[in-house]
Amino acid sequence: MIEQKTIQQQFNDLVITPTQSLQGTYQTPSDKSISHRALIFGALAQGETVINRLLPSADVLRTKTALQQLGVAMTTQGEQTMISGQGGFNFNEPATALKLGNSGTTARIFLGLLAQQNFPITLNGDASLSQRPMDRVVAPLTAMGLQVQYLSSFDYLPLEILPGAQLRGLNYRMPIASAQLKSALILAALQAEQPSIIVQPAASRDHTELMLQQFGGQIQQDGLTLTVQPLHEPLFGQTLTIPGDPSTAAFFIAAALLRPNSRILIKNQSLNPTRTGFLQLLQQLNAPLTITKQTTTPESSGDVLVTSLTTQLNSLVIDRDNLGSVIDEIPIISLFATQLAGPTIIRDAQELRYKETDRLHVITVELGKLGAQIVEQSDGLIINGPTKLHRPESTLDAHQDHRIAMMLVVAELIIGEKAPIKGIESVTISNPTFIQDLISLLKDKSV
Ligand code: S3P
Repeated sequence: MIEQKTIQQQFNDLVITPTQSLQGTYQTPSDKSISHRALIFGALAQGETVINRLLPSADVLRTKTALQQLGVAMTTQGEQTMISGQGGFNFNEPATALKLGNSGTTARIFLGLLAQQNFPITLNGDASLSQRPMDRVVAPLTAMGLQVQYLSSFDYLPLEILPGAQLRGLNYRMPIASAQLKSALILAALQAEQPSIIVQPAASRDHTELMLQQFGGQIQQDGLTLTVQPLHEPLFGQTLTIPGDPSTAAFFIAAALLRPNSRILIKNQSLNPTRTGFLQLLQQLNAPLTITKQTTTPESSGDVLVTSLTTQLNSLVIDRDNLGSVIDEIPIISLFATQLAGPTIIRDAQELRYKETDRLHVITVELGKLGAQIVEQSDGLIINGPTKLHRPESTLDAHQDHRIAMMLVVAELIIGEKAPIKGIESVTISNPTFIQDLISLLKDKSV
């Protein structure tokens, strides 16, 4: 058997020179958010669900393993995952606590999914996840009838979901625009006795709504207001293919724009409008990219052709109106902004402090080591460009945050020189093939 190289070994193999470009076709790894939801809805449905191209990343495997611990049968054959659905929220008592690792999405969504079981369930996370707030989800679920016990400290994992809740419908104005919170509430609302009304303060990714409809559930959307009907009939199993993750593609798009002589064709990435904020901003700036839409239901996807920038682009503004559509792209957008003319303003983005790391702070510190002109604000960042980035003044550190790790690798491509990155292995959270993918796209005309 051929030993798989560790991410650190792959990173050691990565050669970065000042004359490289990105060339070729890139099949973006599948979308992380849609992968989590496909597993969850497949588990709930009656009959078999077939998922083509489930993302095999660490976070998604946490959802998969946790569902298996709850008695859901799954098999994998090549790129297909087959799920034998439970035909409802009929789970088995897990023998041990559910270990959710780094996956905030699993933790938040599972609170709603498992709100009404007749046995206790303990949710555990790794050090980073155990510092991310849970009460934003627990509080409205408690209003529906959920009971939890925090096992270490209020607001944080580990926690125990207590048995025997009888969920009531909810009429709730969400204080934050969060797809994880919204999805937990939708899943609880399906189990409640009455319909629920959920009002969002701003748009966030709508994969749960789309997939619920695809599986036969009833949810109506009127502007930012959602009405969810309790499930009277089981959802039914589906066959679905997961499109590429736009938040993963964004690192390759930024790298291709910034490395001279590049041309990459990104195949089959999600073009769901709640996820394409980065592409929309680039189009407004007339960046050299062409989007070809292929499918529209239930999730749109298509190809994106990107070539290098030949003119200086102007800076960006990100605020509450478009933040939701770029929430996971802020690290790569911040790096990109260092190469734009004038100040890029990111505001209304306090939520970034509650991601895998406090991203506003970590972006400021790590890009600062490379000479970026970046000022941390309480709710965002101000990034002045264009700046010639230089080799790091001290060791770069991803702080075990996958999107910071990938941002730093792209920063090294822009500089044209490699330097060690502490925590590089965290890329497996959303893209286990990140380094290999990059190696296969990098071409050096001088070699
Ligand atoms: C996700 C929602 C987002 C995003 C996260 C994945 C999801 O968080 O940052 O990476 O799959 O629902 P919010 O809860 O802030 O929307």
